[in-house]
Amino acid sequence: MTSTQIDAGAVLAWGLPRMRDLPWRNERDPWRILVAEVMLQQTQAERVIPKWLAFLDAFPTPRECAVAPLGDVLRLWQGLGYPRRARNLQATAAVVVEHHDGLVPDELEGLLALPGVGPYTARAVLAFAFERDVAVVDTNIARILARTAGERLTPKAAQARADAAVPLGDGWAWNQVIMDLGAALCRPTPTCNECPLAASCAWSRAGYPDPDPAIGSAGVSAKQARFEGSARQARGKVLKALNNGARPAADFDRHIVSSLLADRLIEQSGATISLPT
Ligand code: ADE
Repeated sequence: MTSTQIDAGAVLAWGLPRMRDLPWRNERDPWRILVAEVMLQQTQAERVIPKWLAFLDAFPTPRECAVAPLGDVLRLWQGLGYPRRARNLQATAAVVVEHHDGLVPDELEGLLALPGVGPYTARAVLAFAFERDVAVVDTNIARILARTAGERLTPKAAQARADAAVPLGDGWAWNQVIMDLGAALCRPTPTCNECPLAASCAWSRAGYPDPDPAIGSAGVSAKQARFEGSARQARGKVLKALNNGARPAADFDRHIVSSLLADRLIEQSGATISLPT
């Protein structure tokens, strides 16, 4: 199958009138964008909105975040899951204060050097805060890249295909709209009849041969593991139980306690555990 370039004009024409009104889309402050993007990595937009607002009320700049007890950062993170992200975000705030005069860097290398900031988050900050014409590749966009190409892509090929699609001067809008296309239509089970790329999509044109090229392609994440009954859920429950102060470690499953200690998400003092101070 020949891989043609993605028709950016068609995607913008589809997406601009439908662009979801999300609060971080009215922002250009790099810290506020960075916090949003870290939260959005593994959590749905609807659930992120109230947490993002509360987090930024408490930590309007990296300085407030950097000096807060980690326990306070974790309390504000509760309900989002994957709390290591919160610990990394605070470490990033500390680096920004220490090495960048309190300002989130505006170039790729500086961003990638921050704790927990990978290619996705770094480019999202460049595109959404600094309006640079870079290509963001998240799991939704990665599906579009592979399906329209008609083949599984390596990380390099996926990023190159995404880079080639960015319309000059429109990087901000392009990345928002292609993200919306992946979230609305190019789902794991896609809705192609309304898709602006259906006519040019290699996978669609070929009649959807098995396997779906998105499966196993770079940046496309596997389905999230079941939450009910998971260690992730048990860890969240322990963190929540420590919200209002220390508790005897013996109140909880010791494997879960050990894993939280290993991740430095809780502290132990004698027989009690607490959120980090
Ligand atoms: N997911 C990650 N970043 C996003 C954004 N800027 N808008 C909507 N959903 C997102």
